[in-house]
Amino acid sequence: MSVFRAFCLRSRNGILTHIQSQPSRIKVLQPLFYKLRNDVHFKHLAGSTSTIPQKAPKKTPSPYDSMIRKKRDEAERSILVQVQSAMSHPELYSYISQFASVEQMYHYSFSDDMQFIVVELSSAEDVERILDASGHLSQGDLIPVRSPLLWFRAKGGGNSLKSKSKKKSKNIENAENLPPLKCGCITLSEGDIMKSVSSCSSFSEQVQVLYKLSCLDELGSRIRFLTARQLELALQGIFPNAKAIPFGSSVNGFGRVGCDLDLSLHLDSCESEEEDGNPTSLRLIFQTKMIPFNGRAQMQRQMEAVGDILQLFLPGCTHVRRILQARVPIVKYHQDFTSLECDVTMSNQTAVFMSELLWIMGSLDARVRPLVFTVRHWAKAVRLTSATPGPFITNFTLTLLVLHYLQCCKPHPVLPSLTTLISMAAPGDRRVSDDGVNCTFLRDISRVKPSENTESLHALLFGFFQFYASFNFEGRGLSLAKGHGDNSGVGIVKPDASPLYVENPLERMLNVSKNVNGQELERLRIEMRSAAWLMEEMLALSDDEAQEVHSTRTSHSALKSASDGALSWGLMDLLSPSNAKVKDNRLSVGTAMKINAKGRLVRVTDLFEDTERDDSRASHSVTRGAHKGRKR
Ligand code: GTP
Ligand code: MG
Repeated sequence: MSVFRAFCLRSRNGILTHIQSQPSRIKVLQPLFYKLRNDVHFKHLAGSTSTIPQKAPKKTPSPYDSMIRKKRDEAERSILVQVQSAMSHPELYSYISQFASVEQMYHYSFSDDMQFIVVELSSAEDVERILDASGHLSQGDLIPVRSPLLWFRAKGGGNSLKSKSKKKSKNIENAENLPPLKCGCITLSEGDIMKSVSSCSSFSEQVQVLYKLSCLDELGSRIRFLTARQLELALQGIFPNAKAIPFGSSVNGFGRVGCDLDLSLHLDSCESEEEDGNPTSLRLIFQTKMIPFNGRAQMQRQMEAVGDILQLFLPGCTHVRRILQARVPIVKYHQDFTSLECDVTMSNQTAVFMSELLWIMGSLDARVRPLVFTVRHWAKAVRLTSATPGPFITNFTLTLLVLHYLQCCKPHPVLPSLTTLISMAAPGDRRVSDDGVNCTFLRDISRVKPSENTESLHALLFGFFQFYASFNFEGRGLSLAKGHGDNSGVGIVKPDASPLYVENPLERMLNVSKNVNGQELERLRIEMRSAAWLMEEMLALSDDEAQEVHSTRTSHSALKSASDGALSWGLMDLLSPSNAKVKDNRLSVGTAMKINAKGRLVRVTDLFEDTERDDSRASHSVTRGAHKGRKR
């Protein structure tokens, strides 16, 4: 936690404690509390031209809020049922239809004995009726949790799953309204994706196809909200307004099939009296325990308790890990029924607003998401990102890098700066997170003029690599607030000595890439240059030449990847892990590399290698090895 943020929290807690211990002074002190939130925290937006009203106006629901509300509503009306196979669909429909009205059914599996159907019902009352008609096995060693996570027992399998309904069971034959069983994927088949990418006719189409096939689909989204619902329901006995709100790539539009589920837990998500702008409207106030001065220790204890609930009581939740000393205490677990890795944090409202900001940026132009996906995919392939924490660049930072580049494109940016979005904010867009961070920016994206930039995905991706291959990371940092900004040059002056400085768009005194060390930055730069170089060659081909190369490849069976039969060309040359292996040898930092006058990479050994140069463009881009023989 930053010193500033700690100060704000301490000040806020301190004032609240003071207010509560001296009720007679509430009137005097409350305005001070408002002032603290409105003046101190809004300094985060120094430089923004937006006028933040002192009195909270009614929040205007944003398109993002509507999207989240719709998905939460679907989850509230859904149950997850483990079945024997997809063939159980009509029987399950018929059984459930005795108690409730079924809207849709989705099937997924990740092994023969892990087959599931998500059943969306007409109403939350329907879910209650189903749960009333469900039961537990009468074994003493089971924890009798009631939740919308169920399994469908074979007919005649004992008496534990007993129907409390007196209605007569319908036959399957009578299931005339049986909805079609929809399918989705919860794991990526890299081979299938690459086959589709390989059969595209242009590089830009490859980027589009990669995005379409690897982004979270409807089912992926539903199981995430259902997983959140399980935790939320478990806490609602004691906190009826508790909410587990997904954030991060599950909802920000940059989620890939199989991405983790980030959850922000809010124990009382009702609008507080302070937020509805009318402090005197409520006469009856709940008796509550006070959060002690050391709020952080209290939050750690609460998170510990959440970890215990997950571990001790909730079906399917395994591998619970509590990382309570982190800047933001976190509980990690695996939900076995949805095969999701989950990260729970407490009241992480700023991160929820960050997801909304990223979602808005992704919605402003249709090229943003495909580009972010491609860059994330590329970074994984060349092992710049890692599943384990460390000094590596994260997907989140990479996303900000792409957005920043799209703000800086010349002559026309693809995206506006955050400062522009803040200056366009309407009074109803005002948002302040629980810990006092101002997250006010334009929510109604229809008010943003479409970009005049008409570059292809191919050209933009090339531009991205070129931009960062020559970026002055030593002296400059990146700021989404500034974007293309003023005439002071690209980026902002780096405020500290971190090798990579990427300003947190909402808490501008924080660097989201603080973890990246000099060596990782160097690797990033080298990989960017290498990718730019490769793409430069691809772009040099005319459409006809590209087609020719493509057909040459199609007839050249030797180029087929041994694992999946996909033909490697274009985007695949950037993304192929096998190429990454070659590059590992080729690009080890500070050893076998020299950067020539044009900033391109050559191996020292290549300078002395007597390899015959193949001047045919086609064969250059057919294999990455062509680079190795190049002398500059
Ligand atoms: P993947 O999980 O890798 O698909 O991407 P993600 O965007 O979900 O990243 P991650 O799970 O690491 O983080 C979830 C969210 O937490 C991000 O989308 C950000 O909103 C926020 N976040 C992640 N890293 C940082 C950070 O360094 N600083 C801040 N302030 N927020 C972060
Ligand atoms: Mg995530």
